[in-house]
Amino acid sequence: MRQKIVAGNWKMNKLFHEAEDLVSEIANELEDHEPDCEVIICTPAVFLEMTSDYADESQIKTAAQNVSQYTSGAYTGEISAEMLASMEIGYCVIGHSERRKYFGETDELLAEKTERLLENNIKPIFCIGEVLEEREASKHFEVVESQISKGLFNLNKEEFSNIILAYEPVWAIGTGKTASPQQAQEMHSFIRKLIEKKYGAETADNTSILYGGSCNAKNAKELFANADVDGGLIGGASLKADDFVKIIQSF
Ligand code: PGA
Repeated sequence: MRQKIVAGNWKMNKLFHEAEDLVSEIANELEDHEPDCEVIICTPAVFLEMTSDYADESQIKTAAQNVSQYTSGAYTGEISAEMLASMEIGYCVIGHSERRKYFGETDELLAEKTERLLENNIKPIFCIGEVLEEREASKHFEVVESQISKGLFNLNKEEFSNIILAYEPVWAIGTGKTASPQQAQEMHSFIRKLIEKKYGAETADNTSILYGGSCNAKNAKELFANADVDGGLIGGASLKADDFVKIIQSF
């Protein structure tokens, strides 16, 4: 059966001492209340060593927010999947809408990045989701299907079994406008059917599909109660330990 997951995406927030305080507060709170789900924090690369040290001693796992499509060499400023693996980082966010929008990341590039991660036994948290105009034009299913098939469906079944998906409607990210539980369930169930068609029922059943986009301590329970919503990718609300832990406890 698939894993329930709550992942906090810190994006480009916090200074070193603030990041240290945040991860230690989360770790302390979870020590008293053991989570019923896997807890991941996706931290800026410069904090990964520190956050993964905390992770070693707690229930928390760490994820990178980006990786290079190249293996190694003269690519100034880039971080390879092999480097992440050498620090025992087990997860990496891929295809976040902010990277698609501000850094021009295409489905083809994301497919390459995904391959680099899988070669190094790092699980991609692969983000998909439509923008507002696409939803208003009723193209959301088409858009998500295209993102998944171009970004992921070149993988074989075994490779795909390492993918965590995150459905994040772009109009809900950082806007305070959450998808309704019905909208989330409808899309998650559509995604699971796509996976079933491509890889079979067992793989589909075992794939965790997270919801992201203004998910917070108030609405998490209702969203996570849906059959095909296996947790959340949390931005703003993951920057405060209390809020994040409340979301973790929403299962
Ligand atoms: P948000 O961000 O929770 O602040 O809307 C979610 C995300 O971008 O992963």
